[in-house]
Amino acid sequence: MKLTVNGQTHDVDVPPDMPLLWVLRDELQITGVKYGCGIAQCGACTVHVDGEAVRSCQIPVGDLEGEVTTIEGLGTPDALHAVQEAWIELQVAQCGYCQSGQMTQAASLLADNPAPSDADIDDAMSGNLCRCGTYPRIRAAVKSAAAKMGA
Ligand code: FES
Ligand code: FES
Repeated sequence: MKLTVNGQTHDVDVPPDMPLLWVLRDELQITGVKYGCGIAQCGACTVHVDGEAVRSCQIPVGDLEGEVTTIEGLGTPDALHAVQEAWIELQVAQCGYCQSGQMTQAASLLADNPAPSDADIDDAMSGNLCRCGTYPRIRAAVKSAAAKMGA
């Protein structure tokens, strides 16, 4: 089957029930997206499908409809996404394992809601777990990214 990831179309020969996460990491070697729980509980595997944040561990690749964007494709070839810039400036990451999912989720939030309140941020990000407890920096970075994007 064909799938488009970060603007590039790939042919993959995999069972249709293989989760998108496995296809991205093991077939396409796009490894920014992470395996955390495998049961839709942690958000480490978050990617965009047509701009919407989804859990790639829960999508059989045969059911995929739309173009996939991972953390590697969040910005442009010339510039990081505002979320990525804010994450670097505020040094959000600790171990880093959850952070590609956090940034992908945050980018989706800001596409829908350019000026989120604290409650909006907490609500949108509540499904993305961080064992290192970086939540205060995540919230600050989402606000910084919103400001960069003109909110
Ligand atoms: S690995 Fe998909 S939500 Fe945890
Ligand atoms: S930075 Fe370590 S799990 Fe989030």
